[in-house]
Amino acid sequence: MYRNILCLALGLIIGIQLTDFLEYFQLTDSQFASTAITQLEEGATPQLATEEELALWLQNETRVLCMVLTLPKNHQSRVRRVKGTWGRRCNKLIFISSQEDRELGVIDVGVPEERNNLYLKMRKALEYVYRNHGEDYDWFLKADDDTFVIMENLRFMLYPYDPEAALYFGHRFRTTFPQGYMSGGAGYVMSRDALRRLNLFAFNNSQFCPINNNSEDRQIGFCLQNVGVVAGDSRDEEGRDRFLPLSLKFMLPTFPTDNWLPKLTFRSDCCAASAISFHYVKDFEFELFEFFLYYLRVFGLHRTPRALPSRLGFRQMNERLQHWSQQVTDNKN
Ligand SMILES: *[C@@H]1O[C@H](CO)[C@@H](O)[C@H](O)[C@H]1NC(C)=O
Ligand SMILES: *[C@@H]1O[C@H](CO)[C@@H](O)[C@H](O)[C@H]1NC(C)=O
Ligand SMILES: *[C@@H]1O[C@H](CO)[C@@H](O)[C@H](O)[C@H]1NC(C)=O
Repeated sequence: MYRNILCLALGLIIGIQLTDFLEYFQLTDSQFASTAITQLEEGATPQLATEEELALWLQNETRVLCMVLTLPKNHQSRVRRVKGTWGRRCNKLIFISSQEDRELGVIDVGVPEERNNLYLKMRKALEYVYRNHGEDYDWFLKADDDTFVIMENLRFMLYPYDPEAALYFGHRFRTTFPQGYMSGGAGYVMSRDALRRLNLFAFNNSQFCPINNNSEDRQIGFCLQNVGVVAGDSRDEEGRDRFLPLSLKFMLPTFPTDNWLPKLTFRSDCCAASAISFHYVKDFEFELFEFFLYYLRVFGLHRTPRALPSRLGFRQMNERLQHWSQQVTDNKN
């Protein structure tokens, strides 16, 4: 009797180990890392890939459509620079302007250029994107033509979250209405469901989302709040910012801080090592960012995490959203 049980147990152990061994063997046998990626089931995380391969896999797993707000006089300067640098790494890149340029991927949303009109322009862009691409991507990023975005870090941050949750991220300003709003210049990124809610329930409702001359970021933030889209916390584990609304030099701790930011921002130390966006990037700086980020290597440094964070389940996701929606802006943290 006992002997039988012992044999059964031994058999199981050997069986399991043999299976492990075979799997290991099959994987090593077939250039494991890249095979591991292509054989992935949807939703599964690759275990055996290098960070570079993970980032590549993530490109199609966390799909981001980028909308860059610009105007005709910047088409040949900033639009070209964005397109030649970080914009290449979007799954889809659309420039929003008042004059079409097909070669550059610029659309005309039919709103005359004027500072007061930026909100209206962005609304039109969000309508256009929803109509044409609303179901084809997971996240929708808005940036300006003087923003630089590290798409790999954006995807890394977004990966745990279900794009079917009503959620958006950015640099959150603590002002104006309970959940505050995300800086337009640092860029904000909304989930597929957030974009859908805006289009189905906000844009047709003059109370939730009135047309006015307020600033674009504040007003879009207002509309999002009113249709239940939660302002997420994009800071890293130590509370350092990932979306930087000022020029980088102003964010550095040694720089005199007599600017407007500290009044508006949540407590933060510059800057997360996993930073995502930079604002007020000068024309020549696009190439500088590109050089330092994507070309230069420092011998001996290994700077990125070796795995993706795990994806949140339904319950965890709800808990996180609830936590954030209670984090209203009069809370000093
Ligand atoms: C991502 O998807 C695009 C379009 O479907 C495809 O052309 C590309 O090869 C994919 N990239 C990776 C790394 O799987
Ligand atoms: C807006 O559209 C949605 C979906 O079609 C509808 O349910 C809602 O009643 C509309 N709101 C207004 C104010 O018309
Ligand atoms: C917005 O400003 C324009 C002038 O720039 C003005 O014509 C228009 O009436 C204003 N709209 C609102 C809703 O205040």
